[in-house]
Amino acid sequence: MSYQPVLTARVGVVDPTSLSDYEAHGGFEALRHAIDIGPDAIIDIVTQAHVLGRGGAAFPAGIKWKAVNEESGPKYVVANADESEPGTFKDRVIMEQDPFSLVEGVIIAAYAVMAEKAYIYIRGEYGLAIERIQNAIDACFQAGFLGEDILGAGFKLDIEVRKGAGAYICGEETALFESIEGKRGYPRLKPPFPTQSGLFARPTMINNVETLINSLPLVLHGPDWYRSFGPSDSPGPKLYCLSGRVRNPGLVEAPMGTPLHDLIYEHGGGVTGSGELGGVLLGGAAGMFVTPEYVDVFMDFATLREIDAALGSGVVMVFDTSADMKGVLKRIAHFFAHESCGKCYPCQLGTQRQMEIIDRLAANKLRHWDLITLRHVGETMTDASICGLGQTAHHAIRTALDRFGYEASTGQFYAFE
Ligand SMILES: Cc1cc2nc3c(=O)[nH]c(=O)nc-3n(C[C@H](O)[C@H](O)[C@H](O)COP(=O)(O)O)c2cc1C
Ligand code: SF4
Repeated sequence: MSYQPVLTARVGVVDPTSLSDYEAHGGFEALRHAIDIGPDAIIDIVTQAHVLGRGGAAFPAGIKWKAVNEESGPKYVVANADESEPGTFKDRVIMEQDPFSLVEGVIIAAYAVMAEKAYIYIRGEYGLAIERIQNAIDACFQAGFLGEDILGAGFKLDIEVRKGAGAYICGEETALFESIEGKRGYPRLKPPFPTQSGLFARPTMINNVETLINSLPLVLHGPDWYRSFGPSDSPGPKLYCLSGRVRNPGLVEAPMGTPLHDLIYEHGGGVTGSGELGGVLLGGAAGMFVTPEYVDVFMDFATLREIDAALGSGVVMVFDTSADMKGVLKRIAHFFAHESCGKCYPCQLGTQRQMEIIDRLAANKLRHWDLITLRHVGETMTDASICGLGQTAHHAIRTALDRFGYEASTGQFYAFE
């Protein structure tokens, strides 16, 4: 049976500027049902469904929602719409084409954890998304879906939009809190975790856009329905960001665990350029390269972890055999050196040294010990950096060197022409 999109069902169908059209397409049915069943039942559903966060770290959403629900006093919900991972564009499509769904997801989350204030932190370059989300929030205030005594259920909520200023690190949850608080986006040491002390040092539930919109169909259809998609340890519908050398790049919604082959050849229409698959970068710049031998791998969090790869934020970037892999690695190395915030030494210095060595590799001017030094630098960053940026800055480079057969004597990757 062919898969019917759930998360993107309204994309391209609904008028993204119209609340009434959103309601005509099933909008706010989930919120009404959520209010009928109450916060504890919502949290049970999210927990039983085993929703894993779609922002990259795959943390179980139910654990976060329950932890914040159990805290007392002022608390916050934050939608992470910074979408700064290279190759990721799923949240943008949702915010531009179905913005009310994110607002509804935030309202359900706030109701579940009993927060009265929420923020949607949107990547600053996403002008249309910012406009549409703000319009959706304004319309919801006018219609009584936001503000005091929402739908007569006795709870209140205010949502504010905040714009990112273009720093990759501000997608990291604690740097994002700093940014909302008006400070420089430096990550915080954890613990304490955001569920205890997050935004303004209050309990905070932060989720990715895709995670939040998962709650809409989930609340309506229940955990068994949700777990009917994909493997039991990594279930649900999934948004994949398909890009690079494929005939039909774009956003693909498919069940979690869809084979990589189906994404590239069925949804993507096959490989362009040389026509032969050279490799795939999974999970973005912070992710890992895989070779064509992995083309049948199931694209879910657990399976990819087993093969030393990552689903991350759903990036599937396809390279044909004519790709300039040295140039690709150079761009990745420059990206991390530029985006490192400099708070901790392993990453501040490691991303610079990595960039210098990859520059020499790209120029065929590697020095004798460069590849050994690069490995040591990479391991140090991975093990000793304090946040995910430094911990993942070497992944793509390591997997490309190991898996694509880089040969220092010839300066070539065997896998590429
Ligand atoms: C450098 C860096 C950048 C990140 N960027 C994003 C981002 O743009 N969007 C996002 O949702 N999560 C991003 N994350 C992950 C967040 O820190 C956090 O795990 C996520 O917002 C939690 O939501 P989830 O549980 O729904 O995945 C980033 C993490 C790191 C280390
Ligand atoms: S790992 Fe990098 S980005 Fe993260 S705190 Fe350290 S220097 Fe900053």
